[in-house]
Amino acid sequence: MKMAENDKSLPFSGKVVWITGASAGIGEQLSYQFSELGASLILSARREEYLQKVNQNLPRNPGQAIILPLDLEQWNQLPEKVETALSCFGGVDILINNAAVGIRDYALATRLEVDEKLMNINYFGPVVLTKCLLPSMLEKGQGQVVVVSSLSGKYGVPRTAAYTAAKHALHGFFESLRSEITIPGICFTMIIAGIIQTNITAHALTGKGESFGRNEQTYQRGYPVEKAATGIIKAIQKKKEEVFVGGWERTTLWVHWLSPWVFRRVIRNHPIKWLRKTRELFSLSKSTSF
Ligand SMILES: NC(=O)c1ccc[n+]([C@@H]2O[C@H](COP(=O)([O-])OP(=O)(O)OC[C@H]3O[C@@H](n4cnc5c(N)ncnc54)[C@H](OP(=O)(O)O)[C@@H]3O)[C@@H](O)[C@H]2O)c1
Repeated sequence: MKMAENDKSLPFSGKVVWITGASAGIGEQLSYQFSELGASLILSARREEYLQKVNQNLPRNPGQAIILPLDLEQWNQLPEKVETALSCFGGVDILINNAAVGIRDYALATRLEVDEKLMNINYFGPVVLTKCLLPSMLEKGQGQVVVVSSLSGKYGVPRTAAYTAAKHALHGFFESLRSEITIPGICFTMIIAGIIQTNITAHALTGKGESFGRNEQTYQRGYPVEKAATGIIKAIQKKKEEVFVGGWERTTLWVHWLSPWVFRRVIRNHPIKWLRKTRELFSLSKSTSF
C-alpha cells in the first residue's frame, strides 16, 4: 500500500498511525486531524460502515486510509490483525489505543460477564495489540504507543467500577512496561481524558450487558471533541508520558492528589455535580458548564 500523498512540510508526513475506536467520538476526530497533518492511517473499530464514512470524510486523501475492522473483545484474533496492520505500509509508527466501552451501573448490579467483557475490550485488547506490535517497533528502534485513559484511570466514581478497573489496570501495565523499555526512540503516552463531548454514555452498557443508550447531559456539555483530539495530538508530538486533556474537571485530579481522604468523601456525592455546585457558589464562571 502506498503512503499518503507526501507533503514533507506536514508534521506526520511519512508516519503510519493506527487508531482504534476510529468509527466515532475521539477516534474519529483523531483520524481527521492526523489526516490533515499528513499521516498514513489505519482505522479500526467493529463497525466497518462507520469506518468507511470516516475514511471518505478525511480532509487529505479521502478514502486512502486502510480500514481494519476488529473487535477488541475477541482478543485471540488480534495478533492476526497486527500482522495485517504491519503489512499495510511496512510498519506502524504510532498505535493509539483509543477504543473502549463505558458502563453505567453499580458494581453489585453488574454481572461478572459484563465485568469480563469490559476488561477484555478496555484492557486486554490494548495489551494484546501493544504486545504484538512492540517487537516491530523495538526492531526499528522507534515507535510510540498511546493509551486514551480517563479520570477513571486515576480514581473511581459511582456506577463505573468495571470501566474504572480496566482503566486502572492499563495504568499499571503501561507504567511497568515503560520502566522495562528504556530505548530513547520508544515512547508511551497516557492520555487522561476529562469529560469529552462524545456519545460514550449512549454507547455504554448496563450491568446486565444491555445498551445504556442515553447521552448524559454532563457529556453533552463536555469539552469539545475537536479540542480534545488536538490536545491528544500535541501530547503525542511532544512525546509526553502523561497528559490531561479536557476542561474544568482537571481540578478533581488536584483535589485527589492533595487529599485523597477529602476526595473520597466528595466522590460519594458525585464529583462533577459537586464541582458544578462549588463553582456556582463562588460564581467563578457562569458561561462554562459541564
Ligand atoms: N468521552 C469522554 O468523556 C471520555 C472520557 C474519558 C476517557 N474517554 C476515553 O476515550 C476513548 C474514546 O471514547 P469516546 O468518548 O470517543 O467514545 P465513543 O464515541 O463511544 O467511541 C468508542 C469507540 O470505541 C469503539 N469500540 C467500542 N467497542 C469496541 C470493540 N469491542 N472493539 C473495537 N472497537 C470498539 C467504537 O466503535 P465500534 O462501536 O464501531 O466498535 C468507537 O469507535 C475511550 O478509551 C474512552 O474510555 C472518553
